[in-house]
Amino acid sequence: MSENPPVTGGDAAAPVTDTRAEAADPRMSIDVVSIFPEYLAGLQLSLIGKAVDRGQLGLAVHDLRDFTFDRHNTVDDSPYGGGAGMVMKAEPWALALEHVLAGGSGEKPTLIVPSPAGAVFDQRIAEDLASRKHLVFACGRYEGIDQRVIDWAGEHFELLPMSIGDYVLNGGEVASMVMIEAVSRLIPGIIGNPESLTEESHEDGLLEYPIYTKPAEWRGREVPEILLSGNHAAIARWRRDRRLERTAEVRPDLLARLTDLSKEDLAAIERFESER
Ligand code: ADE
Repeated sequence: MSENPPVTGGDAAAPVTDTRAEAADPRMSIDVVSIFPEYLAGLQLSLIGKAVDRGQLGLAVHDLRDFTFDRHNTVDDSPYGGGAGMVMKAEPWALALEHVLAGGSGEKPTLIVPSPAGAVFDQRIAEDLASRKHLVFACGRYEGIDQRVIDWAGEHFELLPMSIGDYVLNGGEVASMVMIEAVSRLIPGIIGNPESLTEESHEDGLLEYPIYTKPAEWRGREVPEILLSGNHAAIARWRRDRRLERTAEVRPDLLARLTDLSKEDLAAIERFESER
């Protein structure tokens, strides 16, 4: 069975491969199975690529067609019961997933199957997945994967069918990349500045406050004066108010879910609502 050439931090064109041998004790190992392994090449860029280079993250991308034995490397067939499109065959998937299991630690890995029919992925799920040792992403194409191999996989993996939103993509590759990026940046030591995780959108159920950098005046637009005041407590309150205001305006559904708002928070929300 062939594997692709190695991942490097900077070479965007090189396909991704198995880096587990170099990653002596990675915080997390990720396997991806796809008929388009080249799609995943973007993962070698930036923070994720660097984490792979440093051995903090093990990343292996497997070509599903390597687990077929016919002349055409067939991975799909027509659906029983009729209907449009093609269905991915069970056996190549079972062989690919068995290959991944054989390279694992023996502990049950988490198998994420991207699908518009899955539960909707969010920051809470990303945090949960970031604490796991071994994630496997099964990127389906066409109409999806034969249900029997999904049921079989449920006996060997912790199975998580996951959607990245209520729309339909052509396959699971882009959805897997979205989830891998959201998860891997939460693994301690992988993102440059851990403090930048604490106040970003969704971290505590609120959207991020607006941010500014030099110059203090740009095309007649000034930075809010309070940010130049040096009064840290007032800046913190102003930022918290902007987060509340933005969330109330853009995502009232998120605000409605929060149960730990302070008296100051509630007063600020009342103020925005009366001003609207
Ligand atoms: N595959 C196709 N559409 C998808 C979606 N919305 N989320 C995850 N995987 C998908």
